[in-house]
Amino acid sequence: MRAGALVAFPTETVYGLGADARSDAAVAAIYTAKGRPATNPLIVHVADAAALPELAVVPEAAARLAAVLWPGPLTLVLRRRPGAPLCARVSADGPTVAVRSPAHPVAQALLTAAGLPVAAPSANRSGAVSPTTADHVAAEFAADGGSGPTLILDGGPCPVGVESTVLDLSGGRPRLLRPGGVPRETLEALLKAPVEAAAREGAGSGDAAGPARSPGLLSSHYAPRRPVRLNVTQVRPGEALLGFGGTSGAVLDLSPGGDLDEAARNLFAMLRALDRPPYDGIAVAPIPGHGLGAALNDRLTRAAAPRPAR
Ligand code: TXA
Ligand code: MG
Repeated sequence: MRAGALVAFPTETVYGLGADARSDAAVAAIYTAKGRPATNPLIVHVADAAALPELAVVPEAAARLAAVLWPGPLTLVLRRRPGAPLCARVSADGPTVAVRSPAHPVAQALLTAAGLPVAAPSANRSGAVSPTTADHVAAEFAADGGSGPTLILDGGPCPVGVESTVLDLSGGRPRLLRPGGVPRETLEALLKAPVEAAAREGAGSGDAAGPARSPGLLSSHYAPRRPVRLNVTQVRPGEALLGFGGTSGAVLDLSPGGDLDEAARNLFAMLRALDRPPYDGIAVAPIPGHGLGAALNDRLTRAAAPRPAR
């Protein structure tokens, strides 16, 4: 990584495709490997909250959340500190930076050993299903002619299974840009204030203090090749039914006992597992919206969204 290489590594949420966040060339290589639009900024990973003030302007609310929830699946969008040791590209040339401290012991060991701020998106091709095992990462970049990671660190299956919650604290009020591994309920309890969800793609927030919206809110994302249909009670011929809580007739069940944390761990691996013959579509049973259910429904809604021509 110090020499500019890409290294895939496990976090508690999903596998990341990491590179030196200070280096424009290394960060550019991430965008190339993923086929990611240059307008969609990356998350910078640090070992702990002590690294934050060098990178960003840290409001009191951010310090409070980091003190309780880091390391863990929470990303904070903050104003960049002038002179921060970060290339402009990692922020897509914007005034803010997203920072998180991952809890996975392999991620922690890597960050400590490298001694760098590490830019890392999920280690999948742009728009595809996020990887929760090292094999998923290898499969994503198998046919890319060598632009993928030089190394993949195998830390086994990711224990949370959905990406971090992205919270924007760069403006006046906290805004939830992406539901994820830390439930909104937890953030509201710690902030003692409501956390409003950011407007979806196209709506824009018009907040002059930061990016108008998180580019990650683009609608089709996290998508398997096959079409996905949600809140299904009646499966169609050719579809594979992905159940929740013991759905009858399910090919796979996210959590037979109805546990949302277990469902989050299984979501991406099961979407991959059903994205193959003999099935020509994936039908998903209804999933409750509380706790990690918000992140599950968010990812599934994007997986089911209309696809751009690829
Ligand atoms: O759990 C995770 O967050 C994983 C692991 C590897 O840490 N990473 C991840 O990265 O999910 P990625 O690139 O797949 O998603 C990052 C999200 C995107 O929606 C992006 O638009 C948003 O964070 N983001 C990054 N920087 C931002 C910024 N400065 N302002 C607003 N949104 C930002
Ligand atoms: Mg991603």
